[in-house]
Amino acid sequence: MTWTTRIRELLSARRTGFSLPQDFYCGQSAFEADLAGIFEAQWIFAANAAELPEPGDFLTLDIGRTSVLLVRDADNLVRGFFNTCRHRGSRICLAETGTTARLTCPYHRWVYGLDGTLERAPDMPGDFDGAEFGLRPVHVEIVCGLVYVCLADEPPDIEAVRATVTPYLAPHQPERTKVAAVSTMIENANWKLVIENNRECYHCEGSHPELLVSLLDFPVGDVKKADEAKLRILDAAQARWGQRGIAYTTAEVGRAFRCVRLPFKGGVRSMTLDGELGSKKLLGDLTDPDMGSVRMFFAPNNWHHFLSDHIIHFRVTPLAPDKTMVRTTWMVHEDAIEGWDYDPVRLREVWDKTNIQDRMLAENNHSGLSSKGYRPGPYSPTVEAGVVNFIEWYAQALERAASSAASEAAR
Ligand code: FES
Ligand SMILES: [Fe+2]
Repeated sequence: MTWTTRIRELLSARRTGFSLPQDFYCGQSAFEADLAGIFEAQWIFAANAAELPEPGDFLTLDIGRTSVLLVRDADNLVRGFFNTCRHRGSRICLAETGTTARLTCPYHRWVYGLDGTLERAPDMPGDFDGAEFGLRPVHVEIVCGLVYVCLADEPPDIEAVRATVTPYLAPHQPERTKVAAVSTMIENANWKLVIENNRECYHCEGSHPELLVSLLDFPVGDVKKADEAKLRILDAAQARWGQRGIAYTTAEVGRAFRCVRLPFKGGVRSMTLDGELGSKKLLGDLTDPDMGSVRMFFAPNNWHHFLSDHIIHFRVTPLAPDKTMVRTTWMVHEDAIEGWDYDPVRLREVWDKTNIQDRMLAENNHSGLSSKGYRPGPYSPTVEAGVVNFIEWYAQALERAASSAASEAAR
């Protein structure tokens, strides 16, 4: 049975407003569908372009079984390639990040330029045409400094997302940053559980004391339904931002993308344990530390917080039905000085602790729903509205992918 047939069966067994049937989280067919229909079809967040500041800087990421290589070429362009040699298919770059003048396959030493051209293939016959064996490119788009890759032949439109997000991110100038800290975590949970956990703060009260120093949770969809104390903080922040022309209202692109600027708790300026700035050097040309944070989500694999003093990017990639990589990067102003403007240990404390707490929640969730006793359960339409939204997006994206794969197979 192909993944298209199985996924249609699974989709028809799904109950709207409920968590998914078990096989969506645990089964191999659903995992194949998630790769083919979602991760090899949609725009996937890879990194901030500032993680590759110089020509020759590279970064690799695994999307399912596919390793992707991002490299800044001699003309300063960020390019994306399948990290698979055109000789016999070895991985070329084995490290997660690095700098190199050329891309040399470790197996038989074929050498590629930073633009993917095959430059050297030792001992191949005289009539061998290297021009046919350049690295296979993947689509790359940079949205306000954020690098997205797409493995599909024809990528979906990203322009609506770019137009929507630009007014929110522009003041933070994500492209004028540098890496302050990185964490990579493997979670023993399906990738959708990691995202579902991120799309609600129903669990925050009992789980995230460090995050709740700063974070004010507002109802998804209608922030004005918050309680009075929160609304007072919100109104004051919005009045201040409104006067200065700073974007804050909730903006969406279908169910796939959402961003909003929200204030922190009273007196708090950043996501640190004491609520004070994590970097004295504010981002871009900002002079006001009270910017709250832009919270951005773009299905399927990324969410971000853009603060006055730093940015936190979260990237989720599936490795197996029960294995997911979560990579977090903390970015500060490109001119911020470590030890003077910021201390990376202090900067990352809140989200390091929160990530570990979230990993435990997602792993317990995966373990519990793998049981014979699991039955899909109801999401709260209010506090879990973000999860409902994500699951509906997911089901529709898979349905579309299954239909087009089926009609292609019938041709
Ligand atoms: S597989 Fe890369 S050089 Fe042989
Ligand atoms: Fe959480």
